[in-house]
Amino acid sequence: NAANVAHVQLGGVVPNPHLSLVYQGIDLCKKEGVDFILAVGGGSVIDSAKAIGYGMCMDGDVWDLYDHKRKAEGCLPIGVVLTIAASGSEMSDSSVITKEEGGIKRGYNGTLCRSHHIEDDMVELDLDTILDIADQPGTYLRTARCLDFLRPEMRVHAANNIREMGIEGIVVIGGDGSYHGAMGLCELGIPCVGIPGTIDNDLAYTEMTLGYDTAVNSCIDDIRSIRATSRSHDRPGVVEVMGRHCGDIALKAAAGSGAEICLVPEVSWSIQEAADRLSRLIDMGNPRATVVVAEGAWDSMQPADWRRYLIESGVKGIHEDDPINTEKLALLLKHKCKCEARPTVLGYTQRGRTPSAYDSWFAFEAGNLAVNLLRNGIGNQVIGIKDGRVYSLPIAEA
Ligand code: F6P
Repeated sequence: NAANVAHVQLGGVVPNPHLSLVYQGIDLCKKEGVDFILAVGGGSVIDSAKAIGYGMCMDGDVWDLYDHKRKAEGCLPIGVVLTIAASGSEMSDSSVITKEEGGIKRGYNGTLCRSHHIEDDMVELDLDTILDIADQPGTYLRTARCLDFLRPEMRVHAANNIREMGIEGIVVIGGDGSYHGAMGLCELGIPCVGIPGTIDNDLAYTEMTLGYDTAVNSCIDDIRSIRATSRSHDRPGVVEVMGRHCGDIALKAAAGSGAEICLVPEVSWSIQEAADRLSRLIDMGNPRATVVVAEGAWDSMQPADWRRYLIESGVKGIHEDDPINTEKLALLLKHKCKCEARPTVLGYTQRGRTPSAYDSWFAFEAGNLAVNLLRNGIGNQVIGIKDGRVYSLPIAEA
C-alpha cells in the first residue's frame, strides 16, 4: 500500500497445495489483470504461485502440465518472500500440486520457473574437481536438449545471466544444435568456442567428434561378446548401434569387429538383400555372422511388405502400424534364412564408457586450444580435427 502498488491477496494455501486453490488463483488473476505474483510463505505457497503463473499463460487446464500432457508456454513473473528457511522451491524449477479429486500429487519441472539467482547453480571447477573427473565416463556438467534456447528472448536472458556472473567466454561442447546456440550467444556479444562433442561423428568439418572413438570401442567390445555367443551357438547376431542419421559408428564398429554385414543410412538396402547375403554366408559354412545395423538405417531401407511376410510365417502380435526395428529385422532374417538370428540394441552403453586414449587426447588438446583462443579474445570459433591435428575455424564455416 505504501508503494502505491495495486494488489489483491489469495490466502488458504495448505501443505501439499491443492489444485482447486490454483484454479481460484488463476480466475482471480484473470479477473483483476494481475501481471506479477508475489509468493509470501514457504514451498507450498511458491509451488502454488508457479502453477498460477503457468495457468495465466496458457489456454485450457493447467493440470495438463502436471499430467505431462503439455509443456508450459510461459509463466507470469514470480517474486518470493520466504517465511521459512530454504524451502527449496525458491531455487528449483519444480512445482508440486495435489489434485484433491483422487488425491493425485504430481510435479512439473519447467525451466521457465527457475530461480533467477543463477549463483545457486554455479560451481567453480578447480584443479581437484578436474583431476577427479577427467577420466570418468558420462558428463559432470550434465546435459539436456533445451528447446527454450530456440527463442530469441531466452537467449537474451542467458546472455544477461552470463554477463551478470562476470563470465567472459563460453566453451560449448556439443553438436549442431549446440553450435547454433553458440552462434546465437556470439551474436549477443558473448565469445564462444565450440568443441564437437557427440558420439555420432556427424559434423562434416571435422574428421572426428569427441566421444565417437569411445563409442566405437564400446560397440566393438560388445559385438565381440555377442560374437562369442554366436560362435558357441552357431547363431547370427543382429546388433543395433547409435549414430542418429549417420552410419559412421556402425561402419567402423562392423569393420573393427569383423562383422559380416553392415546396414547404414547412407546406402540403400533391402531386407531381401540382407537375407540373401546372410543365407549365402550360412551356405558357405558361417552360421554365426553378425549384422550391424545403424539406428538410422531404416531411412535407407527399400519399401517391403515385411509385416505380411511375418504374419504369413506365423509370427503373432504383428500390427499394421508396427514400425520396422532391429527385433523385427532379426525375426525376418530368422524366417527367411532359417536360422536363430538374435537381436541386441546396444543403446546407452555406447555413451557411458571410460574415454578411449584417443578421446582423452582430443579432449585435452581441444580444451587447451579453446581456452587459449578465448584468452586471446578470439570467439565465434569451433575446434575440429584435420589431417589428424586439432585446428579451429569460424563457427559459421563449420
Ligand atoms: O546424439 C547422440 C545420440 O546418442 C544419438 O546417437 C541418438 O540418436 C540420440 O543421441 C539419442 O538421444 P536421446 O537419448 O535423447 O533419445
